[in-house]
Amino acid sequence: MTAKREKLAAMFRQATVIPVLTIERVEDAVPLARALVAGGVRVLEVTLRTPVAIDAAKAIMAEVPDAIVGIGTILNANDLARAEALGVQFGISPGITPELLQAASASRLPFAPGIATASELMQALAHGFDLVKFFPAEQSGGIKALRALAGPFPDVLICPTGGIGEANAASWLNEPNVVAVGGSWLCPAAEIRSGNWAGITAICERSMKSLKPAHR
Ligand code: 3PG
Repeated sequence: MTAKREKLAAMFRQATVIPVLTIERVEDAVPLARALVAGGVRVLEVTLRTPVAIDAAKAIMAEVPDAIVGIGTILNANDLARAEALGVQFGISPGITPELLQAASASRLPFAPGIATASELMQALAHGFDLVKFFPAEQSGGIKALRALAGPFPDVLICPTGGIGEANAASWLNEPNVVAVGGSWLCPAAEIRSGNWAGITAICERSMKSLKPAHR
């Protein structure tokens, strides 16, 4: 068990839920992160889906010390290097390429590669990654698919993301191989656009109150 893998598992376990953040305006970053933290949600995935993503992550790290910031939507070795240079706590990808797995394995950044099939999971394991993001979770067969993967891979820790929300997060978290769940339901785009930070805090509080931490 490497130190970076242990650190990743500890962060995800502590998180229970990890919001997937798409930040369109850099000025939204800090109030959004503060709203999430106020609702008890501290581990944040800032996705590289918008031109301001890196600056948004920087602002959160500088101004919201209680947030634990990671970078998501890492698609290649260059994205990974940008995340590592920022000094974030972890990286997440939606899928894998041999180039990305090699770079992530050589990097010190705790990293959760995205997988949706047994073959992809085997490639991740071959590079030393036994905590993975299952994406897109609901669309790739949901909890039935997750249980099927647990058969040959009982020791793998999974963070399902994609199609998870208030209605089904508890069922996913109840699965023995799930370490945390991710999703955008905690920070709906409309609430971010309208600056409804109190609304986002309320969603987080409700979710954190109703959800039990994962078993793993
Ligand atoms: C992700 O990148 O993990 C997904 O976009 C999150 O999926 P969701 O929007 O269905 O939660």
